[in-house]
Amino acid sequence: MDIIRSISEMQQRVVAARAAGQTISFVPTMGFLHQGHLSLLDEGRKRGDLLVLSIFVNPAQFGQGEDFDDYPRDLQQDSQMAQDRGVDIIFAPEAAQMYPTGYATYVDVEGISENLCGTSRPGHFRGVCTVVSKLFNIVQPHTAIFGNKDFQQLAVIRRMTRDMNMPVEIIGLAIFREPDGLAMSSRNVYLTPQLREQALVLSQSLVVAREMVASSETESATIISRLREMIRRQPDARIDYIQICHQLTLEDQAHVDADSVLLLAVYIGNTRLIDNGFLEPGHD
Ligand code: PAF
Repeated sequence: MDIIRSISEMQQRVVAARAAGQTISFVPTMGFLHQGHLSLLDEGRKRGDLLVLSIFVNPAQFGQGEDFDDYPRDLQQDSQMAQDRGVDIIFAPEAAQMYPTGYATYVDVEGISENLCGTSRPGHFRGVCTVVSKLFNIVQPHTAIFGNKDFQQLAVIRRMTRDMNMPVEIIGLAIFREPDGLAMSSRNVYLTPQLREQALVLSQSLVVAREMVASSETESATIISRLREMIRRQPDARIDYIQICHQLTLEDQAHVDADSVLLLAVYIGNTRLIDNGFLEPGHD
């Protein structure tokens, strides 16, 4: 496995791989790999001759006061995990190379990126789409694999790829959960044991919402208000949003149907966690 830090070297490698008839699968990450990332790598290993993992904590997608400086980083541990998973290349550029002085081009996806995290983290998806476009241009993958935990991110990237005619197949994989239900996230490392216990309220909200739907409650407002009550009982929880949206448009839905996804963002202490899931059976 090679670790490549230079953009031009990465581009030369993929140009040569494509010329040799190889397919390239790509897993973009910000590192501090966990089981969820490893499931993406396993899928990537199956789908491409050359498996590229990028590790780049992208400053452009963090707002002021967010956790860019504190975001966990451990390239040595990530390299070991990647190697064990059969990764061929880790691409880990420096921020100064990705965004040199005078950098001026950004990618904005309208509409779908404005609700949910787009409202509470202005500029976040502009940063995500910009870096993912750049990474696609550098790595030139046939297939790119993302996790469903960032449901809105995946929807925005799908839209960007389609709108910009990027020749990349986008694959979304199911959320990887701890045995007690907590969705895996690099940010879980911020949680003390007490906060981690309270963080279970996100996945429990999904369970409760699904139970309500199964017993014929389809009014989004009623479901959301029950979840609000439940989450507020946790002493260190602060709700950012709880919304029920259409899976494709991400617009709010007044009534639950087969396309409805519950999306939550909740601060547990200072850590902002997200989770999501379809409300009717047959998904996930
Ligand atoms: O999901 C992530 O880890 C990041 O948002 C991504 C897609 C790697 C872009 O920085």
